[in-house]
Amino acid sequence: MTSLAITRPDDWHLHLRDGDLMAAVLPDTVRRFARAIVMPNLAPPVTTAKAAASYRNRVLALLPAESDFQPLMTLYLTDDTGPRDITEAVDSGLVFAVKLYPAGATTHSDAGVTDLSRCHDALAVMAEAGLPLLVHGEVTDPEVDIFDREKQFIERILAPLVDTLPSLKIVFEHVTTADAVDFVTSSRAGVAATITPQHILLNRNDLFEGGLRPHRFCLPVLKAERHRQAVLEAAVSGDPRFFLGTDSAPHPKSRKESDCGCAGIYSAHAGIELYAEAFADAGRLDRLEAFASHHGADFYDLPRNRGRVTLIEDPWRVPDRIEVPGGESIVPFRAGRTIRWRLDRS
Ligand code: NCD
Ligand code: ZN
Repeated sequence: MTSLAITRPDDWHLHLRDGDLMAAVLPDTVRRFARAIVMPNLAPPVTTAKAAASYRNRVLALLPAESDFQPLMTLYLTDDTGPRDITEAVDSGLVFAVKLYPAGATTHSDAGVTDLSRCHDALAVMAEAGLPLLVHGEVTDPEVDIFDREKQFIERILAPLVDTLPSLKIVFEHVTTADAVDFVTSSRAGVAATITPQHILLNRNDLFEGGLRPHRFCLPVLKAERHRQAVLEAAVSGDPRFFLGTDSAPHPKSRKESDCGCAGIYSAHAGIELYAEAFADAGRLDRLEAFASHHGADFYDLPRNRGRVTLIEDPWRVPDRIEVPGGESIVPFRAGRTIRWRLDRS
């Protein structure tokens, strides 16, 4: 059996939710990753250092006793976020980034930013403090075709922002297009991107494979094959500006399989294994460690992890469901199908 030992990875984009849902999903992340950037899109959103500290305590309370997993908290940027919110976040030592959701772009983004110029003072303080801005890079203009929303975001919002605040660290989250990859690779220093497993393993045909597939629906939505290939190439390129962020986004099965099914794919149950599969298929397993365990830590100016994990090429069947205390369940990525790599439990 082929095996691969790598430095313990980190997940630089994760939705942990809260309460019963968090209790159901947290063990999957903790088993694989040493740290994770925890998204703030709860209802209500995490907009202050105080709320982030309280959310962090709820995460820590659900960790197994022997776990040294570190949740890296984030703030949710709103039209009202001011310089003082940022200073308090930096001073807390618990907040590692601020997330920009354009209002209405995705799940729980109603409180997001309607006009980025309103946030200029807060962003200027972030630039000074070295606190990264994480962007959900899609315009919300209903006139714009859903497959073009990322490209339009680059032109309308991101390119001007990168120029206006030349020292602001920016992570273009979950890039899905060749345009986004090109933008990042030709950008100034301090601009990076996360890449999810679904955007390197699937294309938009997979949304309709034999029928409508709600569990493959996320935002930004899956794109055409040429974009999948461009994003995969960026992931396996060894370029330090690209790193792992699963965007694992659990929703109850009933909310996904509905007349208006919500966006989000749950992948934490195989949060490193899915990337191993994609990198192996691309013949670039040798570059997995840097993508999963080095580039993100370096970008965030955090130490690389010391521990290691071992991956084995040994196919396993993903369960149909993951039960949530309280009676709901989650349908994980690849449910009922095979993943070729597994984590060594020894
Ligand atoms: C995320 C969620 O469910 O919170 N959904 C998704 O499709 N990725 C929100 C997000 O990251 O856009
Ligand atoms: Zn997300």
